[in-house]
Amino acid sequence: MTQDELKQAVARAAIDYVVDGEIIGVGTGSTANFFIDELALIKHRIKGTVASSEATAARLRGHGIDVFDLNDVTSIAVYIDGADEINAGGAMIKGGGAALTREKIVASVSKQFVCIADGSKLVDVLGKFALPVEVLPMARNAVMRKLAQLGGQPRLRTKPGTDEAFITDNGGELIDVAGLQITDPAALETQINQIVGVVAVGLFAQRGADVCLLGTSEGVKKLTF
Ligand code: A5P
Repeated sequence: MTQDELKQAVARAAIDYVVDGEIIGVGTGSTANFFIDELALIKHRIKGTVASSEATAARLRGHGIDVFDLNDVTSIAVYIDGADEINAGGAMIKGGGAALTREKIVASVSKQFVCIADGSKLVDVLGKFALPVEVLPMARNAVMRKLAQLGGQPRLRTKPGTDEAFITDNGGELIDVAGLQITDPAALETQINQIVGVVAVGLFAQRGADVCLLGTSEGVKKLTF
């Protein structure tokens, strides 16, 4: 099976977690895109969605699915999203697709977090994938110095093919921190959150996944945390 076929399989399996008549939180990235296409097939069953990025909102609307502003919503039944890495405890690195801050916000108000990922995303120790951190632009260098003190190699994310900083949906910049061996994800999440100028860190440990649907060549495996 190709990686796309594995992503499609977990996206389809995630439909079982959609709660009829409710608002569904929708993540960002290639796996989430497969999920959006599956959700379109049952859109009459849900009240609508909250999107974790402008790209996701556009894809949902393109399918004729209602997208609510989070401020107009009191409850989200389930949040469904991919991950860049996930460990056996359900802690994740996210933000490769630049949407970590909104993903974290939507996940934080959702009753259940269902991670959908191909099998390559399951790791023993988080950190091989450079950890994304969103910062306010004026704090970029100050935050990078603090992140280096934590033992990582921080690098500003740039627009492809340029030296210009990549700008998020929130007007922030992204620092990708390579070289971390994250043995205590919840502790590192707290530590990075405390750096002034950080908007959000792409470590999802304190609010990790409740369920992970993992695409493997033997089928979709379900991990619960
Ligand atoms: C988006 O910001 C990320 O958190 C994605 O969820 C993550 O990068 C997974 O993306 P893919 O599904 O494209 O691998």
